[in-house]
Amino acid sequence: MGEPDTTSMDGEESRTEAVVVLDIHPDEFGCRQLEFVSALSNLLEIDASDVLITDYQAGCTIVFLLLPGDAAENLRLALNRQLEDPAVGGFVNEFRVRNAWTANARLRPVMPVTQDKNNSRIFSWVHISDIHFQNPDGKHYAAQGAILKSFLDALPPALKSFSKNPDAVFFTGDVAHSGDPSEYDLAEEFLARLKEILPNQDCQILIVPGNHDVHRPDADRYPDDEKFAQANLKTQLNVVELEANADRAGRFSRLLSRLDNYRNFVKNCTAVSKPEINHEWFFTHRLEKNPFSIGIAGLNSAWRASSDKDRGRLIIGLPQIEKAEDNLNSCNIRVLLAHHPLASDWFCPFDEDYQEKKLKFFDVVVRGHEHRGRSKLVAGPKGKPNPWISGAALYSREERPRGFNICRLNLDKGWLEAVFWYHDDDFNWTLDTSERRNGIYHYTLSTETQRRLGRKRR
Ligand SMILES: [Fe+2]
Repeated sequence: MGEPDTTSMDGEESRTEAVVVLDIHPDEFGCRQLEFVSALSNLLEIDASDVLITDYQAGCTIVFLLLPGDAAENLRLALNRQLEDPAVGGFVNEFRVRNAWTANARLRPVMPVTQDKNNSRIFSWVHISDIHFQNPDGKHYAAQGAILKSFLDALPPALKSFSKNPDAVFFTGDVAHSGDPSEYDLAEEFLARLKEILPNQDCQILIVPGNHDVHRPDADRYPDDEKFAQANLKTQLNVVELEANADRAGRFSRLLSRLDNYRNFVKNCTAVSKPEINHEWFFTHRLEKNPFSIGIAGLNSAWRASSDKDRGRLIIGLPQIEKAEDNLNSCNIRVLLAHHPLASDWFCPFDEDYQEKKLKFFDVVVRGHEHRGRSKLVAGPKGKPNPWISGAALYSREERPRGFNICRLNLDKGWLEAVFWYHDDDFNWTLDTSERRNGIYHYTLSTETQRRLGRKRR
């Protein structure tokens, strides 16, 4: 990721491009385009015929402009003066300008973004996943080091452009490749370096386990318990009884021991945040952004993982979901972290069905596992309009691009925005602009979420 390219567009040598984000409905903008062009040309003291709107997008009305000479730069300077200059302030208020960028410099906001003006009301996070740390004997150890260094170099400018003070880093599992303690030593070093470069030292690093965090020799140590679990966990009642140790056999703790190396790592790693309520195999955590309360559930989708034949055998189970709901019920926003794709065929059918019904409790789902080449805001289960965010794998051992995501959730306005960064084998970091020219995926949260945020239906 280098400095923004400020060269002008082909065939438009005397023009530069600007991107302006307005907090008005696109239909309204469609009616007021001439008014907007007139106000902008007055503001910049250029001819209205020199202001070309090349495109505008629905969502929050992102307007792409071609402006003559230095006008884009002048726009940047003018918007920074909005508090002192009534004319600029009038333009910003009139068109509810929320954000703007200059040409090819979309990494560099030209006016303070929303969270800078009112930082307490944006909840933002960085999403990473699936690093699969291998120790120096591993085939991909060298590539892993180079890729993670590249990520640590890329993150500060990416944050600067989009979310200056993230509240959290979510690491959605497969920290290690085989669950070996030596792999967690590397993870600890990496997270200490990550913590150092985060602009906000209060930023919480929260992690959930993946299937590669299972130490398979430990999963094989109690074959009778594994056989029992495969044969007898057929309903949620069975899971409840197992977790409650109803048979007094201690099976549940022996089954969980496959994650002991992982659990020791999260317990002892100083960079990893200690959750408010630690249920030992999953957690819930609450962050206060006065007056909003954000609840985060880190659910364990890997406790039944044991081999390369996990598909269809996994269980999250009623105890995790019910306790997470109880702990977070009073929160304005509820975020779910897990490793595997939820409500999918990775889980036993009875648990997949249960998730389908119950996970509507959460406003946003953040997960990993599939190392998707293109992360997206993907639709949740039927009837659940809020976003589920996947991807962000930083694993070196494959041809697919690596990636990380940055998200910000506006608690006042009830929207979520995300940017997706990708890394190719030539170590280029690219912002995904395949569907949005500025790379920002904007999502208005559901009516139910808006209600919990104290907003009336729009
Ligand atoms: Fe995985």
